[in-house]
Amino acid sequence: MQVQTTRITKLCHTKDIVTINGMLPGPVLYAREGDHVVVKVTNETPHNATIHWHGVRQMLSCWADGPAYITQCPIQAGQAYTYRFTLADQRGTLLWHAHVSWLRATVYGAIVIYPKPGVPYPFPHPYEEHIIILGDYWNKDAVQLERQILDSGGAAPPADAFTINGHPGPFYNCSTNDVYQLRVVPGKTYLFRIINAALNMENFFTIAGHKMTVVEADADYTKPFTVDRVMLAPGQTMNALVHADQPTGRYHMAMGPYQSARNVAFQSIPAVAYLQYAGRAGGHFDAAAPLLIRPAQLPKFNDNLLVKRNTDALRSLQATHLPLEINRNLFFTIGLNAEACLRPAPNQNCQGTNTSVFAASMNNVSFVQPSISVLQAYYDRIRGRVFTDDFPGVPLRVYDFVNGAPNRAPVDTQSVNDTKVFVLEYGDRVQLVLQDTGTITTENHPMHLHGYSFYVVGNGKGNFNPRTARLNLVDPPYVNTIAVPVGGWSAIRFVADNPGAWFMHCHLDIHLSWGLSMVFIVKDGKGPSETLPPPPADLPRC
Ligand code: C2O
Repeated sequence: MQVQTTRITKLCHTKDIVTINGMLPGPVLYAREGDHVVVKVTNETPHNATIHWHGVRQMLSCWADGPAYITQCPIQAGQAYTYRFTLADQRGTLLWHAHVSWLRATVYGAIVIYPKPGVPYPFPHPYEEHIIILGDYWNKDAVQLERQILDSGGAAPPADAFTINGHPGPFYNCSTNDVYQLRVVPGKTYLFRIINAALNMENFFTIAGHKMTVVEADADYTKPFTVDRVMLAPGQTMNALVHADQPTGRYHMAMGPYQSARNVAFQSIPAVAYLQYAGRAGGHFDAAAPLLIRPAQLPKFNDNLLVKRNTDALRSLQATHLPLEINRNLFFTIGLNAEACLRPAPNQNCQGTNTSVFAASMNNVSFVQPSISVLQAYYDRIRGRVFTDDFPGVPLRVYDFVNGAPNRAPVDTQSVNDTKVFVLEYGDRVQLVLQDTGTITTENHPMHLHGYSFYVVGNGKGNFNPRTARLNLVDPPYVNTIAVPVGGWSAIRFVADNPGAWFMHCHLDIHLSWGLSMVFIVKDGKGPSETLPPPPADLPRC
């Protein structure tokens, strides 16, 4: 992969963006379960770059995970780094993306993992497979935009456009022909590999007149369920079967935002692509035929009920790795802290990423990016100078996360800026409750854990209550990103069987920039198959 500067014209603007091999979205990584993947990434731009293989389990290959300053230093201008990892026990759709500053705004692409040779899908074999990547697009340079937002302390402006496979579609200025078109043959069944690669927005996706049968999420098979609309948070992927069973014509496929807060007026233009039926004459669309056009109907931006129904329907086909007994009970609050910071006389406790600005934290720690990678510091045993291992396993303050306490500053304002990690022993069976503090947030936090998939054993509104929470220990979904409901909680479980330093963070990049992240260090086990190998010789150094 070549990291390049590419001139692009979109939405009536011409500018230079960073791409892989000049493509937006970037090239697809096709592989099979069990394959050993080798990707040499050469950086031909003046920017720092890294590539993260989002959702890849990276067994014993933490050095190839990709988040800047967590598992590697960035690949600097003119440098190269070769990522090497094995795709074990996963099949389906994932994504790769840049993992430094906001470079992933334009540096992203699909990962398609086919089952092992001779192993069929657990659903009818599709006639064709297509990738649908939801994205967003800024007329400004995204990396500069992040800087400006952090410097100003304000909120992130909305993207200039949503995109489907890089195309905004006909409803945007100068975009009549900047439309993704997919031709289908009547009567056939298609597998859509849907990815949300957007920077800062959860999104709905729908196809006029067609239903989608979801069969896989985050590279794990699910019990099939059929819906009109899906919602994906950034970092989430979904495979769905679509039957081309409608009258010949052009059907809009549309993508629009999901924002769970009820009281915000929220307007935006949907991204639209075309699902175009091939004419009767086999394969070619008959331009002379009268064209049936069906516009798509997106849900309301705050259709929480629909999202909840879809979330509840997501069940894994077989929960093979679910730990029924746990020995580590963790509880992390996640939230933004802005209110106190924005007051004219800032609260003295307010120490967000930049004092007196928006910031975010987990268990009252707003993550500070270190100057060399956490993994390197851990491996070289120089941790003390780079991070401390006292990330709290439970919040330090008792708090009513949802209702708050009248006249009391929200708990998240009392955070510290630091680089803290939580250490897990090899083999720990972890339950982690992620509790949104809901004080100012208008959206879910899509929490992503690197190097693992985890079971989402529960979701709920309000405060998590261990006595009343009902957990699904039968067929919970096995995912790498969970949209923790605003003002609610999600409980996840995983076994810490992969040594290394694993980033956990909100996949809305603006929240990541504000410090909504932490790192798990998973210690080596006893045997060689439980021990992280030394770093590759070409690992970029800071
Ligand atoms: Cu898809 Cu840490 O990211």
